[in-house]
Amino acid sequence: MNIRCPHCEREYTIADERLKAYRGDITIPCPGCKGKIPIHLGEPACAPGPAPTSPAAQPDTESTQCLKARIFRTLTDLPPMPQVAQKARKVLSDPNSSFTDLARVIETDQGIVTRVLKMANSPYYGLSGNVSSVQHASVVLGSKTLMEVLNLACSSELLAKTLPGYDLDTGDLWMHSLAVANASRIIAKKVHPSLEQDAFAAGLIHDVGKIILDPYVLERKDEFQAFVRAGKESFLSAEKQILGFDHAELASEVCKRWKIPDHIALSIRCHHDPTPSGGDDLSYIVHMADAVALMSGIGAGLDGMLYRIHDHAMEHLRLTQDDLGDIMADAASFVEKTALGV
Ligand SMILES: [Fe+2]
Ligand SMILES: [Fe+2]
Repeated sequence: MNIRCPHCEREYTIADERLKAYRGDITIPCPGCKGKIPIHLGEPACAPGPAPTSPAAQPDTESTQCLKARIFRTLTDLPPMPQVAQKARKVLSDPNSSFTDLARVIETDQGIVTRVLKMANSPYYGLSGNVSSVQHASVVLGSKTLMEVLNLACSSELLAKTLPGYDLDTGDLWMHSLAVANASRIIAKKVHPSLEQDAFAAGLIHDVGKIILDPYVLERKDEFQAFVRAGKESFLSAEKQILGFDHAELASEVCKRWKIPDHIALSIRCHHDPTPSGGDDLSYIVHMADAVALMSGIGAGLDGMLYRIHDHAMEHLRLTQDDLGDIMADAASFVEKTALGV
């Protein structure tokens, strides 16, 4: 194997024979500068196993690295984001396209058309049963709102799942996602209007990592509950300590698979702690919107018990307590008027 030291740029060849006993991520000291050279040797050497189906399946002795590899393999079980969403994003980013072009793209997926019309006719969008075609919806709603409805239609089935590991009943994650999407959009409108649409899209899928992690949290539910009872650290820390990584990290992997733009993926990765984003507005917006939804009790499952709001989030977004009250009320109303559009 050929390797290069990232510190002194020297190159070396190591006989494969010498690496045979290792798997996963390892580091070796550079013979030249003594810096660390990271080497990735593929997946850890652990027996492949299926996603757990019951608490009895808990592998007590499984290492964190093996568990991580096992969880990442189950990422392939997640349905792909419908192609129509990607195509629609492309149309919308083209300044020469019209809302008719967007409608034409949506009409190529009949399954999505049904859900788009159901959502467009929900009380929130105000079309109450009067819209019978996507073309008509595009004229009445306009391209940006139609894209918002499309995002809802593409993710509703996936987000409507029950997540017993996180104490989320059927529809809880969907309602939480709706609340965060709406609150993200409102905050963006106040502080960074050009991010409105991206904020809605990011808020909607910010917790998608929980869908993958749920069976693994469920099989270790006692450990998680003990962590929550101790009340010292965030639920994300519990995920990191017990599973080796958290649902925000996993969600950014999902974003890669779904070809979600990098800046949206970053905000999802940082939605529990925007500090590593380096002051990125979208990350602070989604974080604050998540906090608002949890304060309103919308989708407050097991992890809502230990939510930590970033010290400077309000300041960064220039929000007041009054603003928060308004955003909470609006989010609750949005959820009430759109939740049945699943
Ligand atoms: Fe989260
Ligand atoms: Fe959340």
